[in-house]
Amino acid sequence: MYSFTAPFVNPTGSPIRELFKYLGEPGMISFAGGYPAADLFDVEGLQCATERAWSAPTKCLQYGPTDGVPELKEEIVALMRRRGAACSSAELVVTTGSQQSFDLLLRVLVAPGDTVLTEQPAYPATVQALLLQQADVVTVPVDAHGIDTDRLAALLNSGTVRAPKLLYTVPTFANPTGATLTLARRLALLELAVKHRFVIVEDEPYAELRFCGEAVPSLLALSEQVPTSRNWLVYFGSLSKVIAPGLRVGWTVAPIEIARRCTVAKQTVDLCSSPFTQAIAAAYLAQGSLDSHLPRIVAAYRDKCETLCDEMDRILDGAIEFHRPQGGMFVWGRCKTGSSSTLLTQAIAQKVLFVPGRAFYADDADDSTMRMSFTAPTTADIKEGVQRLSTAMERSFS
Ligand SMILES: Cc1ncc(COP(=O)(O)O)c(C=O)c1O
Repeated sequence: MYSFTAPFVNPTGSPIRELFKYLGEPGMISFAGGYPAADLFDVEGLQCATERAWSAPTKCLQYGPTDGVPELKEEIVALMRRRGAACSSAELVVTTGSQQSFDLLLRVLVAPGDTVLTEQPAYPATVQALLLQQADVVTVPVDAHGIDTDRLAALLNSGTVRAPKLLYTVPTFANPTGATLTLARRLALLELAVKHRFVIVEDEPYAELRFCGEAVPSLLALSEQVPTSRNWLVYFGSLSKVIAPGLRVGWTVAPIEIARRCTVAKQTVDLCSSPFTQAIAAAYLAQGSLDSHLPRIVAAYRDKCETLCDEMDRILDGAIEFHRPQGGMFVWGRCKTGSSSTLLTQAIAQKVLFVPGRAFYADDADDSTMRMSFTAPTTADIKEGVQRLSTAMERSFS
């Protein structure tokens, strides 16, 4: 009856959000969503920040500047400096979560039919956004050390793909693989972007959730070492995983020519991100609560990650292969006995959820893979969840 635009004639929704209908079932243990642990939200710190924000209620209640309220921009500039990746206020656009950062960038840079490279497996909302933008999505494989830059170089030199506009990557504690791109590969990636003139999108919501190992500088920080690479780099930050996703505060750092256009795109999307939550975020950062609270979150996630990996080793006895991540929220596994989609059906019956890996592939899905998030369940539930998974495996494959 309606004449929908091409990408909305037959759109598919998020495969992860499809699973959320099971979350409300009594007794369900979920390793599915990338949800922070609710009991680790710094409610007291946020309440204090809210009161400080509310001391200027008119500012919170009025429309704000499209590129972000100045107090928050100042705090984010300082945060980026502490992360070793200085940026100016003109390069910064505050967004309604980094998901919006990506949407704005696509509006500015990607026309239907343009080639966009993405790591594979990848964060599904990215692939979904690219398909809705009618981009030609070309995938580059990821291994335990992040995106395979040798394969990328070979692909770019092969002449088999049209010159890409963008490459999307989560270089630190990737969603879904938990992998971190090595320093050598980071430098190689920056050099490839300069040589082949494509924009790297560095999506970095998880980097501060490191439990062990040496921190690796962001691509943005490393861009100083590769001449002109900063011109080919757009960075997305987010407060969702380190403070609270309900704030819906993220940001883009981009060359000024790109940042200015993202701001124009944002004018038609939502005029501005909520000045109220921006003021709360600014007060929270200004009172030093992120730095004081983050170690608690990291310690708890370290514990949960170890519990999940130890229990999988102990109970599943190698039936699911996985790498222990050094941080972030996810363990990526490979079910050696069969399809993870088949396993999910039995897992739901046993009241445990995970995301089948095929959700993270734009093409050639490996249906034996699966993503497990360890942050939201308690350690007791993680132990029980692995036990249930073991029962589900027996019922599915024996
Ligand atoms: C890699 C990645 N980027 C972006 C997002 C969305 O973040 P935000 O809440 O800032 O929109 C997520 C959420 O899971 C994510 O995993």
